[in-house]
Amino acid sequence: MAEELTPETPEESGEEPIKQRKNGLYAEVSDELAENMKSGWADTELHGLEPIAQAEHTARRRAALSAHFPGERLVIPAGNLRTRSNDTEYAFRASTEYAYLTGDQSEDGVLVMEPVAAGSDGTGGHKATIYLLPRSNRENGEFWLDGQGELWVGRRHSLAEAEQLLGIPAKDVRELPERLREATGPVRAVRGHDAAIEAALTDKVTAERDEELRVFLSEARLVKDAFEIAELQKACDSTARGFEDVVKVLDRAEATSERYIEGTFFLRARVEGNDVGYGSICAAGPHATTLHWVRNDGAVRSGELLLLDAGVETTELYTADVTRTLPINGRFTPLQRKIYDAVHEAQEAGIAAVRPGAAFRDFHDAAQRVLATRLVEWGLLGDMDVEKVLELGLQRRWTLHGTGHMLGMDVHDCAAARTERYVDTTLEPGMCLTVEPGLYFQADDLTVPAEYRGIGVRIEDDILVTEDGNRNLSEALPRQADEVEAWMARLNG
Ligand code: GLY
Ligand code: MN
Ligand code: MN
Repeated sequence: MAEELTPETPEESGEEPIKQRKNGLYAEVSDELAENMKSGWADTELHGLEPIAQAEHTARRRAALSAHFPGERLVIPAGNLRTRSNDTEYAFRASTEYAYLTGDQSEDGVLVMEPVAAGSDGTGGHKATIYLLPRSNRENGEFWLDGQGELWVGRRHSLAEAEQLLGIPAKDVRELPERLREATGPVRAVRGHDAAIEAALTDKVTAERDEELRVFLSEARLVKDAFEIAELQKACDSTARGFEDVVKVLDRAEATSERYIEGTFFLRARVEGNDVGYGSICAAGPHATTLHWVRNDGAVRSGELLLLDAGVETTELYTADVTRTLPINGRFTPLQRKIYDAVHEAQEAGIAAVRPGAAFRDFHDAAQRVLATRLVEWGLLGDMDVEKVLELGLQRRWTLHGTGHMLGMDVHDCAAARTERYVDTTLEPGMCLTVEPGLYFQADDLTVPAEYRGIGVRIEDDILVTEDGNRNLSEALPRQADEVEAWMARLNG
């Protein structure tokens, strides 16, 4: 029978032998095996699927986008896998813009908003289509011979299943570059995620018009809807559990390194969410004065502080961003506590300034004023008064960074929003932001007494602006010094 299937060897026919990718190498495949693998598979198509929980929200978000760019084709890619080394890839995380508008997270997915000709009432709007990799074909072997075949990477939803789940008509993404090349009329795309899609559009898009689309999608996310607020709460609750996990293993971290803390928090993030929302900052001792300490390879010592800045990203890609500064042995020294209390007082002043109608800058100014006052009191700024210090910004040698930022799917969310819609705006209910003052005395800072050097303290919470003020989404974690000590003692009791 073999002869009937393969009358010629591949060499005689001049054809390439069939090969299967395996662990970075290729294995040749007999025609018999290739034929065998085509059949004998059950039909697993799913029917009557319920729409995903946020389908109504994503539909409303797409409607707002459509209204803003009438008559224009809009292309929003999820992005592709990125090579880590040879044939292994980084964990995939869909672009924020794509996930926000579709609720989907498939690699290679693309949302296309196709303008519809205006009817007699003048409104056309857009027809949304989601372009996805379909189920793998078993007949042509891609199911098991191709690196993106479902046998290797797992079952995907069929296009029909995706339509039911997402509420968006779905088509095969492999046809999209050609369609985009042939399409006429104005186009905008979100850049930086999918080189093949961008290549299909090169002569049709301009950087400036694409940037306007990115800015719109950043500003659209400034005010969170009910689904997003619930996700942010989930992220904060998981994060609180992750911080508790860390407190319980501080003795093991002392016996190893900051990596034990990173790994412990990561376990919680992976079990309850998608990932960490950013590289965890597990900064013990003087590392706390390095704002983005993510090497996390240092020693964890009793008597020093641990600055842990970490956030769980939920399965729907909303992240918390929380910092606690904890005494590794469970008790603050008097100097650590003095510095900690000042940061806590600054944070309280900052949180109190978060309410609808307040300027975005108010909470930063309130926190900076407290910190400058304490720094002057401690004699670190000579005989200069607080007003002069604030005018010259001299406190910033030790406060270093802004007091907070918008939070959402990106840890530094809405970053492309225009100044007038973000830092120069007034707060509105539904905005969510961090309040995160800190004081950092570098180990080599000769302008402060020696005992201050190497101490860094930040306290960071995630604050939702409500109709009548604010709600602290991360309030499950104590902040006041006595409460922190009591909480640590209870967890280790
Ligand atoms: N985790 C980075 C930040 O606090 O902004
Ligand atoms: Mn943070
Ligand atoms: Mn932050």
